Amino acid sequence: MPVEADSIDQDATPQEAWSQLAILADRAGAMDIRALFAADPRRAETYTATLDDLSIDFSKSSVDADAHTALLALAEAAGLRAFRDKLFAGYAVNSTEGRAAMHMALRAPEGEAMLAVLPTGIENAAAIAIAERRRMQDFVTRVHEGDIVGATGQRFTHVLNIGIGGSDLGPRMACEALTLARGAMLTPRFLSNVDGTGMQALARELDPATTLVLVASKTFTTQETATNAAAARDWLAGALGEAAVGVHFVALSTNRLAVASFGIADDRVFGFRDWVGGRYSLWSPVGLSIALAAGWEAFQGMLDGAATMDRHFRDADLAENLPVLLALVGIWHSSVLGYRAQCVLAYDDRLKRFPAYLQQLEMESNGKSVTLSGAAVGHPTCPVIFGEPGTDAQHSFMQLVHQGTQVIPVDFILAANADHDRPQAHRVLAANAFAQAEALLRGRTLEEAAAEMRNAGQPEAAVAAVAPHRVFSGNRPSTTILFEKLDGFALGRLIALYEHKVAVQGAIWGINSFDQWGVELGKVLAGGLLPDLAPGAAPGEHDGSTSALIRRFRDLRRER
Ligand code: F6P
Repeated sequence: MPVEADSIDQDATPQEAWSQLAILADRAGAMDIRALFAADPRRAETYTATLDDLSIDFSKSSVDADAHTALLALAEAAGLRAFRDKLFAGYAVNSTEGRAAMHMALRAPEGEAMLAVLPTGIENAAAIAIAERRRMQDFVTRVHEGDIVGATGQRFTHVLNIGIGGSDLGPRMACEALTLARGAMLTPRFLSNVDGTGMQALARELDPATTLVLVASKTFTTQETATNAAAARDWLAGALGEAAVGVHFVALSTNRLAVASFGIADDRVFGFRDWVGGRYSLWSPVGLSIALAAGWEAFQGMLDGAATMDRHFRDADLAENLPVLLALVGIWHSSVLGYRAQCVLAYDDRLKRFPAYLQQLEMESNGKSVTLSGAAVGHPTCPVIFGEPGTDAQHSFMQLVHQGTQVIPVDFILAANADHDRPQAHRVLAANAFAQAEALLRGRTLEEAAAEMRNAGQPEAAVAAVAPHRVFSGNRPSTTILFEKLDGFALGRLIALYEHKVAVQGAIWGINSFDQWGVELGKVLAGGLLPDLAPGAAPGEHDGSTSALIRRFRDLRRER
């Protein structure tokens, strides 16, 4: 993407860079994307960035040459290059927890060193990851070959992953993406919520004799996972005897001590280090369910795809760098133009869980309002992320995206080739994806709406009454991510694209994308509140509303 504007100070300070962007946003017609296309017929070419078969078309946004230059100036002013160097050098970019963020080491190819700088010294993160990856591969192969079997000697047919947040969302999303079209080697099931209905339903469906249970928890202290793991253990031990637990349970964790006290033997523990954040852990042993369900080749493909994006992010110039450009367009929308939501529409049923996965990645990472130095952040940070697969979304919330009072940028995601034998269905799917983006851009004027109604023979009274409701403002931004086909490689590359996008945005906002203190208070209060719900307990101190709700809840349960 070329940099051409000369009115923009490319050596601006961060404050100046933000001011330049604010001035650009205030220009008359700054939001007129259609005018940008009229002025530059080659705009789509100019504002499409590629990496092999993967392309990202940013042209349906109001970023023009000036905004593009000013956004790159902001990235420079915010020290993005230095941040990127620190990230890959394994420094403790997660400053509030004193940890590196070295998830890239989990997908590093054999022989590539990647270091993590710890308070106690330096370790070769890639070597540690590769050693554990070999153990995982061996385990997966032996399960698939029937060498590792259940307590009754039967082969495993199902894998139940018990975990929550990053220990659930990534593996669940990837399992769906990689097994929906062609089926699974082991049928994956997931238990995350502490709502007991989940285990009750799974107990009806699963045969304990053929179910391998993975307890995935980075900390192995998460209340929901501990509760669900205990329930699954009761279910399995009740059916097959206590001795079967060691045969059917596997732990994926950094906390070997806690795993041992749960009763899982060391050779059934796959570990990782705390330089892997929870929401980045699907590349670690937490991804074991993906390899068991989709096969090792698909899992390795994911790692390779992500490693390709890592190299691109690390080495490519900022102006050509896909995660950087995706991040900058996001910043233009959320921080400069003030759009407070971001919609993600994957036109692919296999990516049904991708928005849910992104919600944690983006909102847990960048849902922050304090900078690294503890000051209030000066700009709106992460928007609300939501999405559903296209075309389903078109028949629900897209009404609001087209005609609602707020502007919501959309990321459209589409593979050019499907993994089924109905090419026409895929053309229909793709036509809808492109048409949605076109409709958001083009819009429909009152005159056009009225003319269409008249052409359809509608009476003037109906035209006057209904035409205003059929107006679309247009000029609504979207980004289209297109690639050849969705396999392990493409999925890994797509996930890593968003991971680095999030890191870039965090660096530019000056926040820590790798901690999540915002989840703490609720956890602490839930621990204090739990005893108050027991029959006969004397309720503790709460605000008036919470106390009343506790009383009402207990009355309705009528427990003695
Ligand atoms: O509550 C948030 C969180 O800490 C996430 O960051 C994490 O992915 C999830 O809980 C689960 O944590 P763990 O893997 O330690 O059980």
